[in-house]
Amino acid sequence: LRSQDGVLRVDLVAEARVTEVAGRRAQVLTYNGTLPGQTWQVRPGDRLEVRLRNELDTATNMHTHGLVVSPQGNGDNPFISIAPGESFDYRIDLPEDHPTGVFWYHPHRHGTVADQLFGGLYGAIIVTGDEVPVSRDRSLIVSDISLTTDGTIAPVSAQEVMMGREGDLVLVNGQHKPRLAARPGERERWRVINACTSRYLRLAQPGQDLELLGVDGGHEPAPRAVDEVLLAPGNRADLLVTMRNGTSELRTLGYDRGGMGMMGAGMSGPVTLATLAVTGQDTGTTRPVPERTADPDLRERPVDRRREIAFTMTMGGAMMGPGGMGEMMDLGFDGRAFAADRVDQQVAAGAVEEWTITNPTPMDHPFHLHVWPMQLIETDREPVLEPTWRDVVNVPTQGQVRVLVDFSRHPGRSVYHCHILDHEDAGMMATVETG
Ligand code: C2O
Ligand code: CU
Ligand code: CU
Repeated sequence: LRSQDGVLRVDLVAEARVTEVAGRRAQVLTYNGTLPGQTWQVRPGDRLEVRLRNELDTATNMHTHGLVVSPQGNGDNPFISIAPGESFDYRIDLPEDHPTGVFWYHPHRHGTVADQLFGGLYGAIIVTGDEVPVSRDRSLIVSDISLTTDGTIAPVSAQEVMMGREGDLVLVNGQHKPRLAARPGERERWRVINACTSRYLRLAQPGQDLELLGVDGGHEPAPRAVDEVLLAPGNRADLLVTMRNGTSELRTLGYDRGGMGMMGAGMSGPVTLATLAVTGQDTGTTRPVPERTADPDLRERPVDRRREIAFTMTMGGAMMGPGGMGEMMDLGFDGRAFAADRVDQQVAAGAVEEWTITNPTPMDHPFHLHVWPMQLIETDREPVLEPTWRDVVNVPTQGQVRVLVDFSRHPGRSVYHCHILDHEDAGMMATVETG
């Protein structure tokens, strides 16, 4: 779906559907009956008008992940709740200088976010305006799901909530190991979204040349050759692939995000995501990538305030048995679980702030801030030299990251949270308000 005359109107219906997943009959959750939902294409300065009708049997809402839009009105409102059978009209205005790149939409109703994403509710948003000459522009939404023998979505266990659930089946655009085809010499742009509720992806495509154009709303100054890209849940990669003859696999190499003292609990093994067959006549030369405008560097601005934010997981007892942990753990930030009516960080109007996010817990957590993009300036106590803009930043176990945030635009109230969505639903979310 593309915007016309500066407006993209979408009728979005969240509903359960019976479809086929990995050759099996499955009852999943969909936007408008498809897995994933349709891709939306907009330009900076456009308006999005979305009418969301909730045909699910639980409350829902919609969040446009990564869009730099006002949290006032309903443009970014994780506090809205749309009851079953009801509709809601969103109106979201993208500023003229909105970053280009790949973003996405998904439900954000606190308490059911993980269940609804795991069930299939997600779709891509492409903000166009930095076109590269390519033969194909593909959105590849990676998700995971577990199905019971009767084809319904597997319920989550208490232990999976603590660890963050990972599905048995990893899907690309709703398909299990789809086959992609191209001709040698063709260049494609791949917009990869990690829509898994908890799984980290270490993307690689051995046998093909990958070049990174950007991650989230951040842009590389020039395409950068990479062997792999780490995408925490919520992150996106914008990649160029120049096709070389042969058959290869798009894979995730596996990642250990730590565990609660349980060996291997947070270890995801390597998985094939898709196969790519490149055959036929070489298509010849590819035109050069146009020059890209460098991303701004917030380090040129004075810091008004520094704060520290810590992920917390507090254990209520020594019991670690399966199923027994749910009640034993409290997830949150700075020792507190999410409360919608409390302001956790009050930011002065117009401020630039430096946030140090620490993780004393035994596992990694992806830190996500709405509305206000973060410039990553330090990770693992190493400075990050290039301007590096993200909306999800992984904070490794026992580690810390440092970011700069420009609060001079889009006053209002929104949230930050762990993008392991089981953690978010369990309370690992907090509010920030700027006036
Ligand atoms: Cu992708 Cu607050 O979420
Ligand atoms: Cu978000
Ligand atoms: Cu977490």
